[in-house]
Amino acid sequence: MRLQRTLMIFLLGFLLLNLYPSAMARFVVEKNSLRVTSPDNIRGTHDSAIGNFGIPQYGGSMAGTVVYPKENRKGCRDFDNSGISFKSKPGALPTFVLVDRGDCFFALKVWNAQKAGASAVLVADDIEEALITMDTPEEDISSAKYVENITIPSALIEKSFGEKLKKSISGGDMVNVNLDWREAVPHPDDRVEYELWTNSNDECGIKCDMLMEFVTDFKGAAQILEKGGYTQFTPHYITWYCPQAFTISKQCKSQCINHGRYCAPDPDQDFSKGYEGKDVVLENLRQLCVFKVANETKKPWVWWDYVTDFQIRCPMKEKKYNKECADNVIRSLGLDIKNIEKCMGDSNADSDNPVLKEEQDAQVGKGSRGDVTILPTLVVNNRQYRGKLEKGAVLKAICSGFEETTEPAVCLSGDVETNECLDNNGGCWQDKSANITACKDTFRGRVCECPMVDGVQFKGDGYSTCQASGPGRCKINNGGCWHETRDGHYYSACLDIENSKCMCPPGFKGDGIKSCEDTDECKERKACQCPECSCKNTWGSYECTCSGDLLYIRDHDTCISKTGAKVRSAGAAVWVILIGLAMAAGGAYMVYKYRLRSYMDSEIRAIMAQYMPLDSQAEVPNHVSENRA
Ligand SMILES: *[C@@H]1O[C@H](CO)[C@@H](O)[C@H](O)[C@H]1NC(C)=O
Ligand SMILES: *[C@@H]1O[C@H](CO)[C@@H](O)[C@H](O)[C@H]1NC(C)=O
Ligand SMILES: *[C@@H]1O[C@H](CO)[C@@H](O)[C@H](O)[C@H]1NC(C)=O
Repeated sequence: MRLQRTLMIFLLGFLLLNLYPSAMARFVVEKNSLRVTSPDNIRGTHDSAIGNFGIPQYGGSMAGTVVYPKENRKGCRDFDNSGISFKSKPGALPTFVLVDRGDCFFALKVWNAQKAGASAVLVADDIEEALITMDTPEEDISSAKYVENITIPSALIEKSFGEKLKKSISGGDMVNVNLDWREAVPHPDDRVEYELWTNSNDECGIKCDMLMEFVTDFKGAAQILEKGGYTQFTPHYITWYCPQAFTISKQCKSQCINHGRYCAPDPDQDFSKGYEGKDVVLENLRQLCVFKVANETKKPWVWWDYVTDFQIRCPMKEKKYNKECADNVIRSLGLDIKNIEKCMGDSNADSDNPVLKEEQDAQVGKGSRGDVTILPTLVVNNRQYRGKLEKGAVLKAICSGFEETTEPAVCLSGDVETNECLDNNGGCWQDKSANITACKDTFRGRVCECPMVDGVQFKGDGYSTCQASGPGRCKINNGGCWHETRDGHYYSACLDIENSKCMCPPGFKGDGIKSCEDTDECKERKACQCPECSCKNTWGSYECTCSGDLLYIRDHDTCISKTGAKVRSAGAAVWVILIGLAMAAGGAYMVYKYRLRSYMDSEIRAIMAQYMPLDSQAEVPNHVSENRA
């Protein structure tokens, strides 16, 4: 068994070397930018390599103060034991802990710093070299427990840059840096192409468990994105090939199909029991074909259903990882088994399988993407994602691949929240009494944007003002305008008209938002000042009474007689005079016809309105003036 294992490792090494001839091997280290903002003498931008665990803030950035601990400088021990805390005080920038490379796993350093309250970790390289990717320890069982719980981002920095930071810190400077992931994924257009390099093997320890958990969690979001046409997803599977000289060996026969062309490592690393490598290759091939067939019927997202169902229904543990179980899943999803079998081809044939051949070719990096050597690997817009495969973190990375403002709604939803709104409402406008806020958590950080509430759009800068606008605006918190009821009278400063501002109603003055004060019409507007008038101010209006038998006419602010006869005769008299005047003016008036007409109209209307008695309202002068002209 020991010998077998050694041989297998030797073989795999051999296979890998074969697949990546050294001249071609190209592993691209994915980077984010690190900008020193103070002190001035070390200001500048540096590359740093994103760690392949924890949660990088794709699409966002993060500012912090760098702390280099006085002891435990490699971060291999618990900081808590020596009473060190990196928790930042309220109002202070978060703490980025700088630790030295060496002595223990990268992930352990980051975990120790996180436990002590760090918000991010910078690992200073201990040799001068090009940046490398900090990965999770593969085989170590004890690390499996904490790697999953790392939530802070980490980055490796070059040795020389690390020295500069340390020198500045030891000199008493406050070193502030900004970690920036906004350009970590290209975002050229409104569709994101992404790939997941995965594996159907469900018994490979922590990496397989995390991968399965991720696929289950992410399925919903992936399907929304795919159905909406926002993304084009492609699953990929890595295979190796057996060197020619070994194709008839027991090892190659058990790990490979198509005469040593496509191999996967034995799941339990024991050739004499359990599932064999070739079982994994076959299932991988089946999953590829499920995707191909589903994609041909324009439903590529069915792959996510198949993979998650297969995980649940056909696990290796229950000895159900086989064709029969897979076929049941395929049938239940309504996929065409014949087409899938045709796509899979003959695994015993001594010839290429076009589907797997394509996968092997795709493994080699192209353009900005390096070779895929870590499993699982997510590639977004042809850049390899680095960090924990976790729904929120991956969604952030995908969302940051859209050209700004073209992100689909799922990118602005709760799944990728940064929770910045919880703290002081993110500094955005809010109306506490109506429970309306302009703060929105997005993957790019919080934005202050006036909200839409019950179909009514709020407008404003989002920081200091937002006002409901458009029809229905007064329904919501009275459009943010002043309103008040007193003694059964209700007044509102809200006008239900597009783009209107809050305006105090007639009889009031003020900003219309916080307050409207009653105007004292008797004093300020000189209303009701005729000799017979007596004025009394009321809230929102005034009352004017006339002495004796006189009636107050508000529009003209005057008192007239109440008796019908007098009013009618007066009206008729004015009418006759006006018609007479108009006729007398005759042709001379033709030149100024239109000006005159409007003048006469308004005059007659005003006069008629006052003097025509109520019982002759049918003759209200509209028609009269029209006939006259
Ligand atoms: C990781 O988190 C889980 C759940 O939050 C917790 O039960 C577990 O103890 C944590 N592991 C470690 C090593 O802290
Ligand atoms: C899936 O289908 C689309 C068109 O429907 C095509 O552009 C794409 O290349 C297909 N993907 C694969 C892996 O066949
Ligand atoms: C305010 O609204 C949010 C969601 O819109 C709700 O979760 C919260 O409970 C509300 N708070 C109050 C005080 O009504």
